[in-house]
Amino acid sequence: MNKDKKAVKKLKKYNQDHIIKLLNKLEGKEKENLLKQIEEINLNEIIRLYDTLVEEKIAKKSKIEAIEYLDKAKLSKKQISRFTSLGDDVIKKGEYAVVTMAGGQGTRLGHKGPKGTFKLDVYGKGKYLFEILAENLKEANMIYNKVIPWYIMTSNENYLETLNFLEKNNYFGYPKDHTKLFIQGKIPLIDTKGKLLINKDMKIKEVSDGNGSVFSSLKNAGILKQMKEKNIKWIFIGGVDNVILKMVDPLLLGIAIDKHLQIASKTVTKANPHENVGVFCKINGHPKVIEYSELEDKLAKEKDENGQLKYGNAHIMCNLFSIKAIEKISEEHLKYHKTIKKNSYIDENGNEVIPTNPNSYKFESFIFDSFEFFDNIAILNTKREDEFAPIKNKEGSDSPKTAKELYEKYWNSKK
Ligand code: UD1
Repeated sequence: MNKDKKAVKKLKKYNQDHIIKLLNKLEGKEKENLLKQIEEINLNEIIRLYDTLVEEKIAKKSKIEAIEYLDKAKLSKKQISRFTSLGDDVIKKGEYAVVTMAGGQGTRLGHKGPKGTFKLDVYGKGKYLFEILAENLKEANMIYNKVIPWYIMTSNENYLETLNFLEKNNYFGYPKDHTKLFIQGKIPLIDTKGKLLINKDMKIKEVSDGNGSVFSSLKNAGILKQMKEKNIKWIFIGGVDNVILKMVDPLLLGIAIDKHLQIASKTVTKANPHENVGVFCKINGHPKVIEYSELEDKLAKEKDENGQLKYGNAHIMCNLFSIKAIEKISEEHLKYHKTIKKNSYIDENGNEVIPTNPNSYKFESFIFDSFEFFDNIAILNTKREDEFAPIKNKEGSDSPKTAKELYEKYWNSKK
């Protein structure tokens, strides 16, 4: 069967007749590109996701419990020094790597371009978010007299812009041969009637498939293999937008090692029941984060016997995995969460439609859904002002203004 016929058969099977019509109108390179895409896209999966469009709700029979954690403020000096020295050993041996996830769209901030290229107005001159991360890692390299390999995940859309930006800025002095960019996975958008959307370039509209993509993307890009060859044992995975993120913390690492756990995460106490952060818990005996968009009001407000929020440990995107854990997760299938959004598209007559109401579903996997593949996780509750200053919104909470204040306060206190 030739390529055209194969594509038509596949599209018919999944009721995508509008794309067959488009295919008939296209010629040359445009047609080639669309045919290639049709061949590559897993239509079965996307239609299955559409058909099972159930809200990500916690099943009624699930057992939800608070999760155990260590409070840094309550650790003795002796404990801190023992854990820290366990972590130090690993980093000194060069067995530690860092991954920054920078594939998000940063829509809420309203910055044009990849979020890491946002310049935060600090100390007069200002610093780019990528610059802040590079400085943080360079400092760790000095302490340990090692160069920590730095991997940066971008989306398909922002890869080139990110690469050009980092090249132009000479990676902010981070050793280039120890820095590597890789591209995360993508997934098509689908409208409320189960039809794939067409983009202006006459291709099927595909977008990033969420930060849970990091595990399979590390594997598919050959980085997991490279890490093993370098004898990397532990990998920190963080976001791009927390300006005081500690990517190299021997204490967290030492705790995971001491407790023989493969995953670890830092947390801060939630500022209020409705703060936009995921919260840690246990579901059916396994560690889990419930995302803020999916947390029921009753659970958000629930208190424990001491009058504290029962689910008050915020997920601050400060996660640590052993290489074995990453290998295991990269073989698993993380579930998708769906959101309905407004997305423009090209209709059957070739005209662009800009919807006034949400018209299509976006599917994303979340990094923390990997936690449930394990029996336990080491959680360390830390002081917010030392660990968490995110930039999410243009104004108000978690904005450049709040992040600047927290960043300067943090570094002034170190002087
Ligand atoms: C995220 C967490 C939330 C946590 C909060 C803390 C998820 C799903 N949610 O929420 O639990 O409390 O941070 O600040 O992780 N990214 C990609 N590819 C994607 C999507 C996102 O690389 O496809 C990256 C972003 O660039 C960013 C990070 O993942 O570095 C977090 O994504 P973002 O959309 O900002 O998540 P939040 O809603 O802020």
